[in-house]
Amino acid sequence: MIPAKVDAPQAAAGLYVHLPYCASRCEYCAFVVTTDGSSRGRYLDAVGREAALVAEEAAGATFDSVYCGGGTPSLLPPDAIAGLLADLRSRFSIGEGAEVTLEANPEDVAPETAGAWREAGVNRVSVGVQSLADAELSAVGRRHDAARARAALATLAQSGLSTSGDLILGLPGQTRESFRASLAGLAEAGVEHVSIYLLETEKTKTIEEDRRLHPDRYLSDDAQAELWLEMGETLAARGFAHYEISNWARPGREARHNVKYWQRAPTLGLGVSAHEFWGGRRRANVSNLDRYLEEISGGRRPLALDQPLTAAEAVREEIFLGLRLSAGIPAEQIEAFVVGSEDVRLWNDYEGWLAEGILERIGGNVRFTERGYLVSNGVLSRFV
Ligand SMILES: C[S@@+](CC[C@H](N)C(=O)[O-])C[C@H]1O[C@@H](n2cnc3c(N)ncnc32)[C@H](O)[C@@H]1O
Ligand code: SF4
Repeated sequence: MIPAKVDAPQAAAGLYVHLPYCASRCEYCAFVVTTDGSSRGRYLDAVGREAALVAEEAAGATFDSVYCGGGTPSLLPPDAIAGLLADLRSRFSIGEGAEVTLEANPEDVAPETAGAWREAGVNRVSVGVQSLADAELSAVGRRHDAARARAALATLAQSGLSTSGDLILGLPGQTRESFRASLAGLAEAGVEHVSIYLLETEKTKTIEEDRRLHPDRYLSDDAQAELWLEMGETLAARGFAHYEISNWARPGREARHNVKYWQRAPTLGLGVSAHEFWGGRRRANVSNLDRYLEEISGGRRPLALDQPLTAAEAVREEIFLGLRLSAGIPAEQIEAFVVGSEDVRLWNDYEGWLAEGILERIGGNVRFTERGYLVSNGVLSRFV
């Protein structure tokens, strides 16, 4: 179960570090990444300097999660990961039992690297499996095949690291059968956590164009909806509970760090494009790597956004972030907002969502139904 929501100021904080280096760029990916590793040493120094700039502001806060995301953090030599984590531990109060996650690509996982990550203090690895069908993987430029992904999951299962696997529903060339096989393969590979994303085809020109030119290569919306509902049952039968739109976990294995984003707990973000929520302010670093390095070498945090939230914005966030979680949010909270909203159609629509089974009341809370998650973007956008 996800722990009960605590008031943000007292909640233990989370620390995110963005590591943008990748061996190549996958066709569907719009994250801030680079395939040019020449700045890697300077970048790691810059993250250390940024940590030093932020540390004073974070004095007094306790962190119980660290998330090294990317990019491909597993591409860095394990001793660089160890150095980074040691540096963070020396500057921030990171609790003994903190969840420390590293994102890894299957081709980087080997018994020696898994052992070295563990030594460095990593205790959770999130692997980008994406699919267990070779043709689907090569079509989007993944560097691993299904056998390599299976081997990576087996290695991690042996290593004692808690493991999560990502899959994408809607990849070009994917069929109902191949998706079912990927899902069953992942669920049976010893993972404790699964993230399943619907392919966002508008994220890159290449995939957008491919879908426009070859619509037959893509599962229809109806097929995806059918698989989505079926997938919830498959995972439930194998002991995974659906706790957030895209996330399933075995009991107690929910991603502690990611839950902080949906519960609006304080988080710091270091590195190019990193976002944070700290002291009631939303902040984001610049997304351009050269600018990030330049600003840090000038002794400044490279913030592109630094804004206090108004009380009204905070209420909206509580609704549209909280509704992503399967626990939902208190009915009185969403209803007070809907009644007071300037959007005169919102009350009618809200009643409609309940009547149509898109939202449901459970205890004193309102949440999405499994079917409702499929149309959640449209609903959530009304609260943004
Ligand atoms: C930061 S990314 C990548 C982590 C890691 N480098 C990898 O490739 O496995 C985290 C996850 O976002 C998902 N993702 C990236 N682009 C996506 C898109 N356009 N649509 C849906 N999911 C996407 C992928 O499942 C990926 O594993
Ligand atoms: S999906 Fe992962 S490996 Fe591929 S480009 Fe994006 S961050 Fe890099």
